[in-house]
Amino acid sequence: MAKFNLLGLAVAACVQTTTVLAGSGCGPNCHLAKPELSCSAAAQPGLVDSCCVETFGGLVLSTQFWDTYTGLESEGQLLPENSWTLHGLWPDFCNGSWTQYCDLNRQYDPHPSPNTTTGTAGGTPVPPYAGPTVDTFLTALGKPGRTLLAWMNNFWIAQNQPNTELWAHEYSKHATCFSTFAPSCFTASALKKHKDLLTYFSVAAEYFNRLPTYDWLAAKAIKPSNSTGYALSAIQSALAARHGATPYIGCSGPRYNETAAGKGSLDNGRTVFTEVWYYYHVYGQVQAGKGKPVEADITGGSTSSCAKADKAVWYYERAPGAERRV
Ligand SMILES: *[C@@H]1O[C@H](CO)[C@@H](O)[C@H](O)[C@H]1NC(C)=O
Ligand SMILES: *[C@@H]1O[C@H](CO)[C@@H](O)[C@H](O)[C@H]1NC(C)=O
Ligand SMILES: *[C@@H]1O[C@H](CO)[C@@H](O)[C@H](O)[C@H]1NC(C)=O
Ligand SMILES: *[C@@H]1O[C@H](CO)[C@@H](O)[C@H](O)[C@H]1NC(C)=O
Repeated sequence: MAKFNLLGLAVAACVQTTTVLAGSGCGPNCHLAKPELSCSAAAQPGLVDSCCVETFGGLVLSTQFWDTYTGLESEGQLLPENSWTLHGLWPDFCNGSWTQYCDLNRQYDPHPSPNTTTGTAGGTPVPPYAGPTVDTFLTALGKPGRTLLAWMNNFWIAQNQPNTELWAHEYSKHATCFSTFAPSCFTASALKKHKDLLTYFSVAAEYFNRLPTYDWLAAKAIKPSNSTGYALSAIQSALAARHGATPYIGCSGPRYNETAAGKGSLDNGRTVFTEVWYYYHVYGQVQAGKGKPVEADITGGSTSSCAKADKAVWYYERAPGAERRV
């Protein structure tokens, strides 16, 4: 997998703006602020600068997909060989609940999902975006933007929609909810040039690059296969050992007891392995990329939607023609 220091891009973008004006790009002199750990007693609005310490969505999730096709192969939208793909970087509240589309002035999602801020008819409508696609903002930022864009086109891959729509969705639905991404944490000029998007995308990439799910599983002989299923417990322990905390393992597809193999079983977990969510508390700004792994059930709840029976979880091979070497 091609790896390089994407965070360097984010830092560079911040340095450029902080030299213009304090209270800009990286927040007001965040390098001088104590990088308190999100969700700790010290990381509260009023006690710290919310541009420098995450005070809103302090339970941070770095999420990944395993798709077997994109639906847009004919347009060259392919999956990276030997690698999972990036879903997003999300700010949950410290208690595990969350909000979305926190700044409708930075709404770039052409298909808001849900279509109101609360997901119910009573919420504020999220208007669909019809402007230039977000990749054009990155291109306009020159080399750092183009370098990041090339990486995103390899590793941040959507299914049944163009990649740019997934990126816009992740930014507008999630990034706008981090306290450290509030408009007041950027200069007017940085916002105008959409450097907040470049910063979010590069930090999301940085977290992703440190979580090589494919390699961690392969090291335990858990490789995509259309002929054998795996045990959820083997997947969980392989990833927990490397991440340092149990991630959430997401499955879709049929429930085990609706399949021939699971007929009569009480295990109604799903059987197609499609997602991993890694949980963190973060030191200082989420932009700093300094996460402390925490258990996926830190606020309670389940750490998987998958079936628990042995060999019940299918980690399918990609469809022919769906991958590219990266
Ligand atoms: C979780 O925390 C958020 C933010 O502090 C709060 O608004 C929400 O009511 C809390 N939810 C629950 C279920 O406690
Ligand atoms: C949101 O979607 C629902 C279901 O498609 C639709 O009935 C509703 O009118 C939409 N609301 C807005 C604000 O667009
Ligand atoms: C699957 O399991 C659930 C709960 O264990 C049960 O309620 C459901 O009836 C089962 N379905 C089938 C098709 O056996
Ligand atoms: C493996 O199975 C998945 C899921 O059914 C399918 O999409 C894919 O094309 C298969 N891959 C190969 C190489 O047969």
